[in-house]
Amino acid sequence: MIEREEIIGNCRLILGDCLTVMRQLPNVAGVVTDPPYGINYGGLLKGKGDGAGGSDKNGWKSYGAPAWDQERPDRRTFDEIRKIAPRQIIWGGNYFTDYLPPTMRWLVWDKGQRDFSLADCEFAWVNENRAARIFTYPRAKALQDGKVHPTQKLVELMVWCLKFLPAGTVLDPFMGSGTTGVACVKQGRPFIGIDIDAGYFQLACDRIRKTYAQPDMFVGRPPVPRQETLF
Ligand SMILES: C[S@@+](CC[C@H](N)C(=O)[O-])C[C@H]1O[C@@H](n2cnc3c(N)ncnc32)[C@H](O)[C@@H]1O
Repeated sequence: MIEREEIIGNCRLILGDCLTVMRQLPNVAGVVTDPPYGINYGGLLKGKGDGAGGSDKNGWKSYGAPAWDQERPDRRTFDEIRKIAPRQIIWGGNYFTDYLPPTMRWLVWDKGQRDFSLADCEFAWVNENRAARIFTYPRAKALQDGKVHPTQKLVELMVWCLKFLPAGTVLDPFMGSGTTGVACVKQGRPFIGIDIDAGYFQLACDRIRKTYAQPDMFVGRPPVPRQETLF
């Protein structure tokens, strides 16, 4: 059920459960999303900065344990994602290999750090049998733009993902603070975002409005990041 809806420029932001909302949406060109991994992120980070209260020596802020990360979405949600668009990019795909078929193309975010308490890289599953690709961008650099969601992705990472999708509307059914939407606005692409949490929905609306308000939004597109073939 759609509980609330905001249209901001070329973006349609929806508050609701993505499984039911996706069934009411038209097909889109592509999905880029970052679902809950079911790894109890807040609990994992206890004592390591995030989720532990305050911030640690690396500057990671505490956001408390997010209740939505205790469980993974079920298979029906992935089936819906795979039906709604010809091309899908799913971050944390390594947590959903029982729902997703084997694929050749994985996207890897190399965080430019080694043997730190958090992972050196993250993986996205893509439904395409082409070469895997790596995006190198230091996580620490990403902090400079500020962070409003406990598992917020980088705008630069989402901009990079967009080039693997055909032209047209992009859907993020687990939009959180709306990072995929911000990337779409910067690239002039229509966007639909869904989140079940009213607080995150509001954050996404605010970030997307702010992005549209930037006077130099379409000036100086980010440089094409370096890519490497995995196999
Ligand atoms: C990993 S976070 C996404 C973070 C996002 N990539 C960002 O940069 O802010 C997953 C999001 O999924 C949302 N969520 C969890 N279950 C959902 C559901 N059934 N429908 C829609 N959103 C859901 C949570 O509220 C959370 O904001």
